This record gives sequence, C-alpha cells and structure tokens, in this order.
Amino acid sequence: MKSLLNVAAGAETIAKSGEKHVNGEVLAIRGGRPLTGRVEVKGAKNLVTKAMVAALLGETTSTLRDVPDISDVAVVRSLLEVHGVRVWDGEEEGTLHFDPSGAVAAHFEEIDAHAGASRIPILFCGPLLHLLGEALIPDLGGCRIGDRPINFHMDALRAFGAVVDKSYEGIRITAPNGLHGANIELPYPSVGATEQVLLTAVKAKGTTELRGAAIEPEIMDLIAVLQKMGAIISYEPNRVILIEGVDSLQGYDHRAIFDRNEAASWACAALATDGDIFVGGARQQEMLTFLNVFRKAGGWFDVREDGIQFRRGGAIKPVVVETDVHPGFMTDWQQPLIVALTQAEGVSTVHETVYENRLGFTEALNQMGADIVVHPDGIDAPGRRVARRALEQAAVINGPTPLHGADVVVPDLRGGYSYVIAALTAEGESVVRNIGIIRRGYEKFLTKLEMLGADFDVIG
Ligand code: EPU
Repeated sequence: MKSLLNVAAGAETIAKSGEKHVNGEVLAIRGGRPLTGRVEVKGAKNLVTKAMVAALLGETTSTLRDVPDISDVAVVRSLLEVHGVRVWDGEEEGTLHFDPSGAVAAHFEEIDAHAGASRIPILFCGPLLHLLGEALIPDLGGCRIGDRPINFHMDALRAFGAVVDKSYEGIRITAPNGLHGANIELPYPSVGATEQVLLTAVKAKGTTELRGAAIEPEIMDLIAVLQKMGAIISYEPNRVILIEGVDSLQGYDHRAIFDRNEAASWACAALATDGDIFVGGARQQEMLTFLNVFRKAGGWFDVREDGIQFRRGGAIKPVVVETDVHPGFMTDWQQPLIVALTQAEGVSTVHETVYENRLGFTEALNQMGADIVVHPDGIDAPGRRVARRALEQAAVINGPTPLHGADVVVPDLRGGYSYVIAALTAEGESVVRNIGIIRRGYEKFLTKLEMLGADFDVIG
C-alpha cells in the first residue's frame, strides 16, 4: 500500500492514537486484496461512553480502562469537562481518570458546542439532576438512522419526579422535589432508555422496578460499574431490573467490556475480502448470535484465549437474518454482513427491526455493482421470527455480484465502515468521502486497515 502518510491535500492532524489524518477525510481505495493480519479491539464504545457519564455519580475519583481513542469518547470527555469534571489520562494506554468533585452546571450553548453530533447529553440527565437539580439537553444528533426519538427517556424521568420543560433552546429538566423510585415499563427494550433509568434510579429515593429492559452485554457491564460504585441492582428473568436507591456512590475502577461491534465488523471484512483476520480481545460469549450467523454464511472462526480468528470456510452462503435487541442479531452487525452477502451464492434477506431507516446505505453498494432491493414494508421470508416491532424494512441481496469501484459518501458510522469494506472487496479504485464519521466508533481505523494490507491513499 502507499501508506496513509501519503497525503495529497488538506491540513494534517495527529489523533491521540498517533494516527495521522486530514481534515477533508477522503480515501482512494484500491480493492481486490484480502485483508489479512491481526487487529486489537478495546473497550466497547457503547459501554465506555456511559461509564464515563456514571463517573459523575461518584463522590470520589473513577478510573476506566481500555478506553478506545475514538471521537465519541472525546465528545463525552469534553462534555464532562464542561460540567466541571476533571478528566486526565492514566499511565496505562487507554486509561482515563475522572474527578467529579468540582461538578457545575453548564449552559445550553456550551453543551451544544461540545456534544457535536452525539446523543450522549441525554444520559447526563439523571446524574446532573442528583448533583445539581437541573439538566439541559440541546437538540440531539447521532447517526442519521431513523427518527431516534427520546420519548422513553422523558417518560422515565417524569416517572422519577422530574419536570420536563421544552423551549426554543432545547429541553430543561428539573427535580424540584428530588427524585424517587418508580415503576417503569419500557414499550420497547431501548438501550439508551434502560441506561437512563439505571443512571437515575441508583440514587433515587426508594426502589425502582424496570420492566421491558434492554439486556445488552454493555448494559450488564454498566450495571457492574454501578455496583462497584455502591449501587444495589439485581435483574430477574423477562427483562426486569430492580434498583434500590442509595444515598451516595463512590468512584469505580473498571476495565470496559470489549467492543463486539468492532469485532463483528472485522469478521465481516475477512469474509467479504476473502481474508483472514485475528481480532485480539474478542470474546465468544457476547458474540454467540453473531458467530452462528457468521458460520451459516460460510464463515470459519477459531475462538482462542486472547481473541477470535475469522476467515471464509468455503463459498459464502446466503442467509436470512433479522436484527433485534440482545440476545438477537444486533442492528450494528447487519451493514458489514450485507457487504459479505453480496458475494454469497444465492439470495439473502436481512430484516431491520430496530431502526426504521438503517438500510439506506445499500444504495451505494448497488452503485458498486451489488443487487440489493430494499422493501420498505418488509417481505415474507422463510425462517423469520415474529418481529418485535412494526418496523418492517427488508433488504434482499441477490448474490454473487462482482463489485466495482465507485465514488461514495459515508452516511453514518456502520454504513461508512461497510463502504470501506465494499471498496476493498471491489475491483478497481473507489473514492470514499466523509470517513471522519468512522472515527466515532473505530479506533485507529486507518492504521488497522494499513496493518491488514489494505491498499489506499488519503487524498483529502
Ligand atoms: N426509541 C424510541 N424512543 C426512545 C428511545 C428509543 O422510540 O426514547 C427507539 C429508537 O428510535 C430505535 C429503538 O428504540 O428505533 C432502539 O433505540 P435504542 O434506544 O435501543 O438505541 P440507542 O440507545 O439510541 C444504542 C447504541 C446504538 C445501537 C442501539 C441498539 C449507543 C451510544 N448507541 O443506541 O449504536 O445501534 O443502541 O443496540 O449506545 C452505533 O454504535 O453505531 C449505534 C448506533
């Protein structure tokens, strides 16, 4: 490869990871070469960012380990700093310390300026209400993958006794009479709303019973963090979580659970490019559902002590998959899998049931030669379980289709990753723009691609 240091234009910056990138963030990728080698995954983005918020609840300093150098972490770090939390790097790489003793309120504009496109400010509500009696939420961003409403969050906060006022600046939430335990049933096992309840209930007066909770491994790890801080949380069958509020919590010292979304992404990259990738830090337990589908799709894997090796086991086979909340097939796994399925010998179907608009990225794959038809209202497909929601988007992927280079713009985090993998699978050169979004959730992305033998240049 020509190396990512081969920069044609744009002002160079160096990320904390040491990875060089440019402001324009455009890659020229030459495909047709298998990705081969070893990559390491650190802590899960979807735990680390929440554990950082949890540090606000402690009366003493917290330490979080295996924190990836991704832009979503930088956003939460600056949001904590805006609220007066002192954050500093530990000696061990990927360690952050948080001292919340100087926590203060922040203004809408400051929060807005630091939140960027992130939806994280919403999870500051519970801790800030306990600490300061007030929380502000500006307009929320995040990946453009559907409406992404916050009604579950607001309803839960009201159940704890919070008052929610909407203004032109955003949402102001107060707790004039403090927060008390509540009986809450989520209409859908939302990850964020479950975290909202946990981060609020741990210090609310009395007991909270949460029904219809999300039980993703990252949520279980957040519960572990909160228990280390002094919280009393138990869970029961059928998505029930009980939280007994306590008066005070201490800091924690915690090593974050590995990022199974990143691990699954590299597994699909090995499958799509006919490569061989060892993902250091990946664990089997949290990936059982993914590994079943990977195997059915013709993938081969070997679980080892320090990670999992992924490659093809023969021809790629078509599969019927439906995304779901844990323990189902995660919505974040379908995009890289679909790239691999363009090379399958037959017709695959992927139903997206978690988000209402997360198959739009397939248009760019079609531009590269794929044959994918999105059915906005879903289709009957053999092997489907009953969908949990009335979201019925389905992608029918007709394979195998050789992919060719194209000029594409990254739409969101997981879609963006899949464009890069598609470009690496394709014959010829592709231009992939707006790759900065990928840095939201993939640490040292370009360095890892380079280590795996990808052939690309940073051109702007
Ligand atoms: N929803 C509502 N109302 C709400 C909250 C959610 O209707 O108040 C709906 C959403 O619109 C969506 C569904 O419920 O259709 C699921 O949303 P959920 O709240 O579970 O998602 P989230 O907490 O916003 C997290 C991850 C996502 C991941 C989902 C599902 C973080 C920061 N984000 O989002 O990760 O896809 O859970 O597992 O933890 C990513 O990593 O690329 C990413 C988008």
